[in-house]
Amino acid sequence: MILHIPEVLTESEVVAFRGQLEAASWLDGRATAGHLASAVKANLQLAESDPVAQSLSQKLVGALERNYLFLNSALPRFVYPPVFNRYGVGMQYGAHVDNSIRQIPGIGLRIRTDVSATVFLSEPDSYIGGELVIHDAYGTHSVRLAAGDMVIYPSTSVHRVNPVTSGTRLAAVFWVQSFVADDGDRTLLFELDKTYRELHATLPDSPALIRLSQCYHNLLRRWTI
Ligand code: NI
Repeated sequence: MILHIPEVLTESEVVAFRGQLEAASWLDGRATAGHLASAVKANLQLAESDPVAQSLSQKLVGALERNYLFLNSALPRFVYPPVFNRYGVGMQYGAHVDNSIRQIPGIGLRIRTDVSATVFLSEPDSYIGGELVIHDAYGTHSVRLAAGDMVIYPSTSVHRVNPVTSGTRLAAVFWVQSFVADDGDRTLLFELDKTYRELHATLPDSPALIRLSQCYHNLLRRWTI
């Protein structure tokens, strides 16, 4: 499932994030790429030990914890602290697959990456290019969102970031180990949850809602790992 989650950060939060990021110390992004990815990665990022990165990362995780669309679609068990990256003119990230296992810095916990996420931080009219292009079984999807919006997609997908040809593209990226590893299973649960919410809005007293809720939670129990 590729899902657009709008307004993860408010307009004023995005402006504050950009202000801090513009003054930060950017490093070559290849430092944290896996073997294959380092050959195609050409961007800048903040060190995970950077105090600006740590502070913004915590704020973003706080916003994610309040976002029901994220919680219900990704079903997060562990969230990798968001990493901030910057693409200036000529920078890009060629086709790659994200590492399947990532170690959370500082705490030594290794997580499986089930869901990948990008939070767009630059206004779309402030740069040209820089689309996130995701390949899945249904074709190729080009994603370029408003500042503060997020896309999540299966970490199993091949994806790339097209070259930026004008301006600067700032974004946060992170990974989730989900309670439900399989993207198809997560998608089914998400559809069931949406159905429950829609029925609840129109038929709040229907006994069928209890059975639907029972199916949802018992499937979630069955698939949780
Ligand atoms: Ni990637």
